[in-house]
Amino acid sequence: MAVQPDGSRVRPPGGRPALAAVTVAPMRRRHLRGVLAIEHLVYPRPWTAALFASELGQPDTRRYLVALAPAAARSLRPARVVGYAGVLVSVGEAHITTVATHPHHHRRKVASRLLVALLRQSLDLGAEAATLEVRVANHGAQRLYARFGFVPAGVRPGYYAETGEDALIMWAHELRSAAFAARLAEQAALLDRPGGDSGAPDLPVPWVKERVGLDGGGG
Ligand SMILES: CC(C)(COP(=O)(O)OP(=O)(O)OC[C@H]1O[C@@H](n2cnc3c(N)ncnc32)[C@H](O)[C@@H]1OP(=O)(O)O)[C@@H](O)C(=O)NCCC(=O)NCCS
Repeated sequence: MAVQPDGSRVRPPGGRPALAAVTVAPMRRRHLRGVLAIEHLVYPRPWTAALFASELGQPDTRRYLVALAPAAARSLRPARVVGYAGVLVSVGEAHITTVATHPHHHRRKVASRLLVALLRQSLDLGAEAATLEVRVANHGAQRLYARFGFVPAGVRPGYYAETGEDALIMWAHELRSAAFAARLAEQAALLDRPGGDSGAPDLPVPWVKERVGLDGGGG
């Protein structure tokens, strides 16, 4: 696939099929092995099992979800964790703490599926606005968040101490508006569409090992 001067890749005709039969469920301790395997592939300073367990132990203000792909027919193995996401909701603000998809399944709408569910649960917890931090060079993730109404609101210099990178702060306001409800419904309606459907080229996602993007190759 053609690589553009800005590092992005042009999608092949037809795009990448969405991952079939993925379900979203509350994260449980039994999922942590699969979660940590992904965590180690996508972040330079992975969260520990203890940190996830601590988050799971605060259900009044936190919601953590996993995306599960069914095991092969007649297999005795449990469903595979292919992604996860979390949020902390406090005084009307939803702080998205993490979103990750297994690198073999990027651009297959896994993160979108998680964000639709996570933002709905944030509304249930009383959120009126949502925020997150994302590496300034993580243009792929920023594009994802923009689809859900997040806009840049500032930079936290050196936020990622392990690499010295700056964080872009993004906010989505008026989560309880009809316009936001329509945006969420629109994203939910696109979940079974192929990857690349939006026309976005495959933008860089820093630090990820073994990434398979739109073209089925590394990226
Ligand atoms: C960012 C991340 C979570 C996206 O997960 P994903 O499951 O591949 O995202 P989706 O398939 O749901 O993407 C939905 C839309 O977001 C946009 N998007 C997502 N990743 C993109 C990329 N690399 N380049 C361009 N657009 C992208 C596209 O518009 C895409 O729709 P399309 O494929 O129909 O064009 C994934 O790349 C990841 O796990 N990265 C490592 C961890 C990370 O960076 N997390 C964010 C920390 S703040």
